Amino acid sequence: MASSAAKPRLENKVAVVTGGAQGIGECIVRSFLQHGAKVVIADVKDEMGELVCQDLGVDFVSFVHCDVTLESDVENAINTTIARHGQLDIMVNNAGIVDGPKLSILDNDKTDFERVVSVNLTGVFLGTKHAARVMIPKCSGSIITIASVASIIGGGATHAYTSSKHGLVGLAKNAAAELGKYKIHVNCISPYVIPTPMAFKFFHIDENSSVYSNLKGKNIGPHDIANAAIFLASDESGYISGHNLVIDGGFTVMNPSFGLFSFTG
Ligand SMILES: NC(=O)c1ccc[n+]([C@@H]2O[C@H](COP(=O)([O-])OP(=O)(O)OC[C@H]3O[C@@H](n4cnc5c(N)ncnc54)[C@H](O)[C@@H]3O)[C@@H](O)[C@H]2O)c1
Repeated sequence: MASSAAKPRLENKVAVVTGGAQGIGECIVRSFLQHGAKVVIADVKDEMGELVCQDLGVDFVSFVHCDVTLESDVENAINTTIARHGQLDIMVNNAGIVDGPKLSILDNDKTDFERVVSVNLTGVFLGTKHAARVMIPKCSGSIITIASVASIIGGGATHAYTSSKHGLVGLAKNAAAELGKYKIHVNCISPYVIPTPMAFKFFHIDENSSVYSNLKGKNIGPHDIANAAIFLASDESGYISGHNLVIDGGFTVMNPSFGLFSFTG
């Protein structure tokens, strides 16, 4: 008789999730835990990260302070994970920021641009580098970067954010090309608008706001991103590398200005 309990898909695996103290990252942490992984949250929000750990119980989840823009912090987060658990199987580069919308490039400051690129792109480079450092000797691992639909389309976010997210796809492809010889697979996940503190701030929405969806009547949530992350972290996706898994209900594959199907039912 088939068991009603689903088999944990990440049993005996250890993950680091950057930006895991809230939002999409927190949802990934909770989902990974449910699937049997041990998780280290690496974030700048110490209090919130510790609260998530307390809520989940201290045995399988822990916190390390880490600003992903600082190589010493990222190096320490990976070394701390190895010291605590002896291995690293999954690296989730999730930490990200967005700058305030400024409608003219003339109003965009270099410092703002560089701050966003520093977290969203340089931070992921550092996460990928230091994860690879401990994964290469083991010849296995999954590196997952949370990009955005802004990685493939223009006009949806700021210049800095869009540039940084496009850059992530190139970084993932290059890392996939290099690290394939060590059986390490590297992929991006690109979410559409997800109700998190970041989206509340940028789009001025709240949890009850409805955002345009191509999938009529369906709402996207952080769990949709966590489900994709579980797949890319698990052995089920071992042959998938260099991919950008866009989770947008088809939003980015159509051009609504043609409107061919807008008049039907
Ligand atoms: N929410 C959305 O609509 C949306 C859509 C597409 C992509 N994304 C991407 O998903 C990821 C998570 O976004 P979110 O919506 O959960 O955002 P959020 O602001 O709710 O959470 C981001 C987390 O990253 C952490 N963080 C920020 N800077 C950091 C740094 N320098 N070092 C370490 N941690 C840092 C924050 O403390 C926070 O815990 C980001 O990369 C974001 O660009 C979000």
